[in-house]
Amino acid sequence: MALFSKNKKDEGADISQIPLPAHVGIIMDGNGRWAKKRGLPRKVGHREGAKTFRTITRYCSDIGIRYLTVYAFSTENWKRPEDEVGSLMKLFKSYLEEALADFKDDDIVVRFIGDKSGFSPELQALMTENEECSAERKGMVLNIAMNYGSRDEIIRAVRNICRDVKNGGLDEGQIDESLFSGYLYTAGQPDPDLIIRPSGEYRISNFMLWQAAYTEFVIMNKLWPDFTTEDMDEALRLFAQRNRRYGGV
Ligand code: FPP
Repeated sequence: MALFSKNKKDEGADISQIPLPAHVGIIMDGNGRWAKKRGLPRKVGHREGAKTFRTITRYCSDIGIRYLTVYAFSTENWKRPEDEVGSLMKLFKSYLEEALADFKDDDIVVRFIGDKSGFSPELQALMTENEECSAERKGMVLNIAMNYGSRDEIIRAVRNICRDVKNGGLDEGQIDESLFSGYLYTAGQPDPDLIIRPSGEYRISNFMLWQAAYTEFVIMNKLWPDFTTEDMDEALRLFAQRNRRYGGV
């Protein structure tokens, strides 16, 4: 159930009849708690979360979302116990080998945002392979945020801008919001219209800080492995009720 009150008139509105966001971000939270509630190891929660990721990605592509960004592993997640990080790396590997190839049928373009160099050479190669073999597809763009931190992304952008000013390719006067956006991992993509966080936490957790300046947030009181396509519809209906003013009236 969503934690925001609903407007009765839009309750149950047909998803094909409402304005959809072009770009949706999802913080896939609550895998560990899902497992704990069942007395299972956390890695089982991540495995179930990965199934949900597959289902929701397909669903977003089917209903016509243009960009989906999922937060899979943050720059801070390396602090987790070694066995949890190890099981997540195994899960990523099996997904990159098998499941992502499935997205071919859905025409999904796969991109990774974050610092790939933090991963094993094997994982890095799989990431690049997935990007290359999906680059020509025409469907939804799926950004998988791995070893991603928004502050890190912003610092990299600043460094690269300084480099370009120093080497003469860029004039200081050219630096504006649009130019800055072009130095981020999401260069060329629209900012997220909607970010969904399941598991009832009211935090942004270093996710798309620059890009989320005018993003609508929907917090769902559901753990990510339990998140269904009906929950996705509910988040989209809540989004459709929002009055976006971008600082205007
Ligand atoms: C946060 O939940 C979730 C993660 C750190 C991992 C998310 C990864 C997946 C769902 C796998 C997706 C696979 C691919 C290939 C993209 P948490 O563990 O912090 O949950 P908690 O807050 O309940 O402890």
